[in-house]
Amino acid sequence: MSDFAVELRDIVKIFPTPEGGQVKAVDHVTIHIKQGEFFSLLGPSGCGKTTSLRLMAGFEWPTDGEVCINGKLMGRTPPYLRPVNTVFQSYALFQHMTVFQNVAFGLEMEKVPKAEIARRVNEALEMVKLTGMGRRKPKHLSGGQQQRVALARALVKRPEVLLLDEPLGALDLKLRKEMQLELKALQEQVGITFVYVTHDQEEALTMSDRIAVMSKGKALQIGLPVEIYERPNCRFVADFIGETNFLTGTVKRVSKEKVAVFIPALSTEIEGIGHGSFSVGQNVAVSVRPEKIRLADDDGKPVSGLRGTENLLRGKVVTTAYIGSDTRVDLDLGNDVRLRAWEQNDISTLDPEAYYANEDAVRIYLPWENTLVMLEDAS
Ligand SMILES: Nc1ncnc2c1ncn2[C@@H]1O[C@H](COP(=O)(O)OP(=O)(O)OP(=O)(O)O)[C@@H](O)[C@H]1O
Ligand SMILES: [Mg+2]
Repeated sequence: MSDFAVELRDIVKIFPTPEGGQVKAVDHVTIHIKQGEFFSLLGPSGCGKTTSLRLMAGFEWPTDGEVCINGKLMGRTPPYLRPVNTVFQSYALFQHMTVFQNVAFGLEMEKVPKAEIARRVNEALEMVKLTGMGRRKPKHLSGGQQQRVALARALVKRPEVLLLDEPLGALDLKLRKEMQLELKALQEQVGITFVYVTHDQEEALTMSDRIAVMSKGKALQIGLPVEIYERPNCRFVADFIGETNFLTGTVKRVSKEKVAVFIPALSTEIEGIGHGSFSVGQNVAVSVRPEKIRLADDDGKPVSGLRGTENLLRGKVVTTAYIGSDTRVDLDLGNDVRLRAWEQNDISTLDPEAYYANEDAVRIYLPWENTLVMLEDAS
């Protein structure tokens, strides 16, 4: 068997628009999804996630490039002849049928013997924790339960790959978080490959083995959740995943480990870790996540726990927001440069003096390993 469950090889998909123009929904995307992987396509609305999934399912054919499933070229193989099944956002259950009948429908179409249908439907309902609910109609189920019927309906056909397009989109936040963990557990239990579409970055980080971050039809970065968050390869990815601060400047020096960047607005140089290869004089973005920044009063006293290799900047506190687990501090570094730092409230104190107040002058430490130098766009 092929190492890859699904491969998109240099896929282009162009749609004609009603206005007589063209839209490139997928723009030279290459993705190799491994057997048994939980793989997410993540990106903002319109970036080409659904189109990519529909190309895998066979509802669309590529303008250029190839789709392979389990190592086989799909060409123009129709959806029902591919070893995949799709769960859509609007789960479209048949309202007049019971849960059992909804799940059994696909097997009945295939003329599977009755006894086997009963066995497989009950097995699928057990997988999604709906044992005993087979006789209910969809309208007597909660949103989360209806979503599980849709999942059971897809799983009962024993696909080798399950394609899921924002399957939790219609659920409220709490139910969504529960279902995220359940889906992930279910995927591990059944061991089939999941390709999961979402525009929710936290959802993608929580559930996925690997993620492709998409923008404007391109897969900008493909990696583990930790790689996508800690080492984004371009400004778009750094900005889309989590929160971050940006500074802009030009490359001064490049060594094996570090890239030194001059930040004109601060008339200072900072050192960071580079993604890709850089040349002196290049314009770059520098990203530092708010939780990586360390603050100290600007009183000249030594600060404990520093390694001495941090970039040191100075600024003033603009606002602070105590949110329990941490305090969010907005800083003004002059010349319209703002940074946001999150200080963990790791020692419990009720003393207001222990927290930063507006107008406090502070030292701002950026650890160089978390000062990420990147091009504006992945190339
Ligand atoms: N059948 C179609 N005909 C014309 N244009 C299309 C068609 N399907 C998609 N598009 C266009 O292709 C682009 C990508 O659409 P797609 O549905 O793949 O985005 P998406 O990432 O799934 O977005 P969302 O998060 O909003 O669902 C969009 O500009 C969309 O308008
Ligand atoms: Mg979509």
